[in-house]
Parts: sequence; C-alpha cells; structure tokens
Amino acid sequence: MITKSFIEELKSRDLETLYKLISETKGNKELVFILENLGHLPQKFDIGIFERFTKNSNSNVRFWAVKNIGKRSNPNFLVLLTNIASQDSDSLTRREAVSSIGRMRDRQAIPHLITFLQDDDPKVILQAIRGLLIFKEDKVVVEELEKLKDHPNEMIQAVIKKEFQKVTRNSDVLPHTISPDYLKNVVVNGDVRQVLELVPDESIHLTFTSPPYYNARDYSIYESYQSYLDFLTEVFKGVHRVTKEGRFLVLNTSPIIIPRMSRAHASIRYPIPFDIHCRLTKLGWDFIDDIVWLKPESSVKNRNAGFLQHRKPLGYKPNAVTEYLMVYRKKTTKLLDWNIHQYPLDIVEKSKIKGDYETSNVWKIDPTFDSVHSAVFPIELCNRVISYYSYVGDLIFDPFGGSGTVGKSSTNQGRNFFMTEIDKRYFVRMQETLGKKGLFDTNNMSPRFYTLSEFLDIERKD
Ligand SMILES: C[S@@+](CC[C@H](N)C(=O)[O-])C[C@H]1O[C@@H](n2cnc3c(N)ncnc32)[C@H](O)[C@@H]1O
Repeated sequence: MITKSFIEELKSRDLETLYKLISETKGNKELVFILENLGHLPQKFDIGIFERFTKNSNSNVRFWAVKNIGKRSNPNFLVLLTNIASQDSDSLTRREAVSSIGRMRDRQAIPHLITFLQDDDPKVILQAIRGLLIFKEDKVVVEELEKLKDHPNEMIQAVIKKEFQKVTRNSDVLPHTISPDYLKNVVVNGDVRQVLELVPDESIHLTFTSPPYYNARDYSIYESYQSYLDFLTEVFKGVHRVTKEGRFLVLNTSPIIIPRMSRAHASIRYPIPFDIHCRLTKLGWDFIDDIVWLKPESSVKNRNAGFLQHRKPLGYKPNAVTEYLMVYRKKTTKLLDWNIHQYPLDIVEKSKIKGDYETSNVWKIDPTFDSVHSAVFPIELCNRVISYYSYVGDLIFDPFGGSGTVGKSSTNQGRNFFMTEIDKRYFVRMQETLGKKGLFDTNNMSPRFYTLSEFLDIERKD
C-alpha cells in the first residue's frame, strides 16, 4: 500500500521511481492519494508529468494535477492552465487553474486573468481579481477591475469597493475610541427619533436594545404592522449613522402573537425578527450572528392546553421559549482587527473576557420580572452582550431604555451609557434606580437625566 512516508521518501531519494509510480497507477483513488500527498515539490521535479492527468475523466484527478502544476508558478504552463480554466467541466478545477495563473505573479498572465473577469462563476472571477491585484499599479488592470464595481455578486462588489473606493471621512468625527462627553451616562426623556437628530455621526460603540413590541403592551400602539416596521427602520437608520465604523448593533426581538378578536377569528403571528432583518441589511448593517435566548418553559405563556386535550394535527401550538438576539455590524471594508487595534493595550487587557464564557449561540437565561416595567432585560443578558461586543470606556446606547438595564450593566462593566425613553414613568424610575449614589463609583461621569429640551440646550452648549 502506498503511504505518505513512502511518497516522501521517493521524493527525496528516487524521483524516477516516483514518476513511474505516478504514471503507472491505474486506480483513480490511488492516483488522487499520491497527487494529494506530494506536498512541496523539489526544484528538479518535472511538473510536465502532470499534464496528461489534466485530461483524465475523473475531476478529482484533474483538480490535483492542476494544483501540482500550480506549485511551480511557471509561465510555460500559462496556455495549458488558461485552456483548463476556460474549458474544464468541473468548477473546482477551473477555479484552481485561475488561482495557479494568479500565483505566477507574472505580467504575461495579466491578459489571461482579465478574460476571466467575465466568467459566469463568481469564484473564478474572485480568483482572477486576486491574481490581478498584484498589479494594482497597472492602469489597464485598474480600469478592468473598476468595471466590476456594480457586479451583481456581493462578494465581488465588496472586494472592488475595498480596493478602490476613496474613503471620505467626516473631519468632525472623533477618534474611534472617543465619544462626546455630553452623551456619557445620560438618559433623555423623549422620542428616540428626535433625540437621535442631536447625536453626532459616529459617537456610539454598541447599541443593545429591545424595541417596543407591536401592539403587545400598553406602550406600543402603532397604526399597522407596516408603520411599526417603518418606525423601527427609521430608528435603526439613525442608529447606523451614530454608530462608529465597524461596530455592532445587537437587537432583541421575537415573533409576536396578537390574540384573536373572537372565536370567529384567527390570531395573527408577526415574524418581527425576519421582517426587520432585510430592512436592516438595506440600511448598511451586515448580519453577523443570531443568538437564541432560551427561557425555561415554566416562565412563558402556556399555549398547549387545547392541544393537550384534542391532540388533532394542525392544532399544534408550541410554547415560545426563545427570543432572538440578532447581531449586526455597521458595514465596513475594515476587518475586526482594525477596530481592536484602535484601543491601547491596557484597555484591551482590561476588557478581556476572563474565565468561563458562553461558547454556543443558545443562551439559557431566566427572564426577569419587574413590578413597574413589563418587559425588562435580565441583567445577565446585558452583561454578556456588553462584555462580548464592547471595550472598557465605550459608549453603549439603548434607544428604548425602559427600566435602564443596559445602563446598569454598562456602568458595572466600566462602560458609559446613553439611553432614550419616551415614557415618563419609566424615565422617573430610572432616575430613582440609576441615580442612586454609589452605583457609579467605577465611572467618573455621574448619570444625568434630561428632558428633550434640556438635552437640546446641552447639545448646543457643547
Ligand atoms: C421592550 S421595552 C425595553 C425594556 C428594556 N430593555 C429594559 O431592560 O428595561 C421598550 C421601551 O421602549 C420605549 N419606547 C417606545 N417607543 C419609544 C420611542 N419612540 N422613543 C423612545 N422610547 C420608546 C417604551 O416606553 C419601552 O419602555
């Protein structure tokens, strides 16, 4: 039986026997095993031996033959690889051929790679782009690549944008780690849409929020589901503007049921997370993750009573024990490392998550019930989101502040908060709880509570 170590040995001691082995192996499985395990090829290795396998009927054999030819980056194989890339029936082999042409880093390859910018397979185009970006100083290459800026494929568009888009930055924007002091540890009693107009671009590091439910509780009355979604869209458009480059929005929602009017009518279930998702991505929020908040079944409304009795299919109604935390990132061409590198090392060190942390996207957390507010975040939920998605000293925003759990958790974790809340009762409650002396020892900025007009004055003075 042929083993990896046998191939290694022949490669270093007896190339003639290795050529013979490759040429005479009949079974495709064995042949693929040899081709796949050749690893680095010595300089004197004759890669011409792979040429005949590029016509093999087995696509795996062809793929590995191309891969081995590509290891040498030899322009003598340019025409062969171009033919394979344009004619092979297997997309992986075609992609590998284009990638091999790119790896040659040879100017002769430029016209060949340019022809693949018109390919039907976006991955072939991406390989060709990769090869051409080595010659980014070449005018023709730049012209050809820029033609792809409106390509229908989103990955191609993103690569071209990253390479060629001129970034115009608002010169008033504060450095990445800094937020305006007048927003720090502030709660404004008002409609978030009006308050947001007073917040400068790129001031916020993280938004974590649970929007009002659609007609589910007394504080949330909207004319229609459409107008409810329009309202949320307007809010998250504003949140997008005030969020710093590449930072996160974590949105807690769940489908909601509006009970039937009478026995003659059906209840309606609204898939809020799914309907809001497309609107958010259109606003420039990139989808990052979906986290499921799992509650004990005993803590949620029982919908099972009927089915328990009648057991008739179609009448099945599961108890809803989950809510979503949808994680989005403000669209940027920069990698997360860029965001992290903006912070000094001591802040990075202080912000590290110590000990155990949640490893899966299912977070089992008991809900919290509150005597004044009917839909509060459990503090544990806030603690996790804030510690996983922000750094010490950051400014955390909750547009729908409610009882102020985001404020409490931010403070406890050395972050600052900014919250808006439309309902006076909840605002007063926050003054009582968040305003308590001693709670804010970790931050030097004590909490302040403003009406909309007071906030307007402060914003003007700043
Ligand atoms: C689901 S609750 C948030 C609860 C909060 N996460 C907590 O832990 O207490 C939604 C809150 O949004 C507030 N709200 C609704 N419409 C608003 C608006 N246009 N501007 C600001 N707050 C609003 C409601 O009064 C309600 O307190």
